Amino acid sequence: MKKYNVCIVGGGSTYTLGFLKSFARMQEEFPLNKLVLFDIDEKRQEPIGKFGDILFAEKMPGLDFSYTTDAKEAYQDMDFIFMQMRAGGLEMRAKDEHIPLSMGMIGQETCGAGGMSYGLRSCVEMIKAIHEIRKYSPNAWILNYTNPAAIVAEALRREFPDDQKILNICDQPENVVRSCSRLLGCEWEDLDPVYFGLNHFGWFTHMYNKTTGEDLLPKIKELIKKNGFLPQDAEQRDQSWLDTYGMVQTIMNDFPDYLPNTYDQYYLYPEYKASHLNPDFTRADEVMAGREKRVFKECNEIISEGKLGKKLENISDAHAEMMIKVAEAIAFNKNNRHILIVENNGAIANMQDDAMVEVVCELGINGPRPMRVGNIPQFYLGLLVNQVSCEKLIVDAYYEKSYNKALQAFTLNRLVNDAKKARPLLDALIEANKGMWPELR
Ligand code: NAD
Ligand code: G6P
Ligand code: MN
Repeated sequence: MKKYNVCIVGGGSTYTLGFLKSFARMQEEFPLNKLVLFDIDEKRQEPIGKFGDILFAEKMPGLDFSYTTDAKEAYQDMDFIFMQMRAGGLEMRAKDEHIPLSMGMIGQETCGAGGMSYGLRSCVEMIKAIHEIRKYSPNAWILNYTNPAAIVAEALRREFPDDQKILNICDQPENVVRSCSRLLGCEWEDLDPVYFGLNHFGWFTHMYNKTTGEDLLPKIKELIKKNGFLPQDAEQRDQSWLDTYGMVQTIMNDFPDYLPNTYDQYYLYPEYKASHLNPDFTRADEVMAGREKRVFKECNEIISEGKLGKKLENISDAHAEMMIKVAEAIAFNKNNRHILIVENNGAIANMQDDAMVEVVCELGINGPRPMRVGNIPQFYLGLLVNQVSCEKLIVDAYYEKSYNKALQAFTLNRLVNDAKKARPLLDALIEANKGMWPELR
C-alpha cells in the first residue's frame, strides 16, 4: 500500500502535538512514509519536534520524521501539506481581540475587525508560502485551515485560480455535529448533516440519521431547549467555549428554523457579545494561559523522561482526526462527506457564484463535489451577502493596497457597522500591524 509524505506548516502550533499523536493512532487508516514539520520559529517548533522523535521511535519506527526551518527541505516531494500557521503569533491575536474591544466592538480571532486584521496578515504569509510550496511540490494537496479561513480561501481563489489542489477547511461544523451526537447519545459518524453558509457563519438545515434517514433536527432542537448545548471536543472545555456553546440555545429561541454554527452568535448579538467579553482577558489570553502552556509542558515532560509512558492513551483530538480523515478521503478516493469551503457555483442557488461558501461535499481523489442546498431564505441570504461582501472587500484591500476598500469592509461588517467607528478602529489596527499588512493608501 502506498505510504504518504506529509508536511505540517506551522510545526510549532499548539495543534501539532494532537496531530502527531493522531498520526500515530491512525497509522493503519492513513499510512505515512515521511512527516516533516516546518516553522519559521525554530525555538517554538523544537520541543514539538523532539516530542515527535520520541513518539515515532516508539510507535512508528519506520517513519522518516524530521523538523526544519528550511522551506526546500520541508516542501520537496510532498503528497499532502497541512497548513496551520498563525501570522503574527498569539501576541497579534491578542491585539486583534483587545483593540476592537477597547473601542466597544467585538474582538475575535476570525470575526469582525479582529478577523479582518488577522486576514490581511494571513493573506501576506499564506500567498508567499504557497508560491514557495509550488516550487518544490507542484502536485501536493494543500489542506489549509489557517485562519481566518474565509478570507484566506477568497485570497487563494484569486491568487491560484487554476490550482485544483488547494482545499480550505474548518473543524467547527463537525464539532457541532459531534456535540449533537453527544446530545442524542449516538456516534457522530451516524449523523448525516445538511449545512450551508460561509466559514464561521452557517446553519444546519437537517441532521439525518445515516441509516434510517430520519431527520433528527426536531429532536435536537427539543433537547437543546431543555438541556442547553455543550461541546464534545475536550479542547473546547474552557469557560469561553462553554459560554459560546451555551449561546446556541439563545440563538435557537430567536431563530428556530435551523441549528446554528456557534460563530453565528457574534453576527446575531454584536452588542450583547461585545459587552460580555472581558477586554482585559480575551480568548487569546485564555489560550496562552491554557492550551499553549499545556502543550509545551507535555512536550517538555516527555523530553525530560525520554519516553512516552502512558501519555498516548487518553487523547481525544477531534481537530487532528478530522483533518487526517480529509487527507484519507482524498488519498483513498473514499468520496466521504465533509463540510468544506468551496467556490459556490450554484451550491447555494441564490448566492453569487464566486463566493467561497461552506457546504457538505463528497470528497475523493479528484477533490470536493459540493452538494446543492437550493435557495436559502431571505434572512440568511441577507446576512451572508453582507458578510461575503466584507470578505471580498478586505481581499480587494489586500490586492489594491486600498485604505478605502478596507474602510468599506470595516463599515459593512455587522460587528462594526458604522463608518465613524470603522475609521479609528482601522487606523489603530494599521498601527498595530505595521510591517505585517500591505501598506494601505
Ligand atoms: P500558534 O501560534 O500556536 O501556532 C502557529 C505556528 O505558526 C507558530 O509556531 C508560528 O511560528 C508558525 N508560523 C507563523 N508564521 C509562519 C509562516 N509564515 N510559515 C510557517 N510557520 C509560521 O497558533 P495555533 O493556535 O496553534 O493555531 C494555528 C493555526 O491554525 C491558526 O491559523 C488557527 O487559526 C488555525 N486553526 C484553524 C482551525 C480551523 O477550523 N480552520 C482550527 C484550529 C486552528
Ligand atoms: C475552532 C474553529 C477554529 C478556531 C478555533 C479557535 O476550532 O473552527 O477556526 O481557530 O476554534 O480555538 P481557540 O481555542 O484557539 O480559541
Ligand atoms: Mn474554523
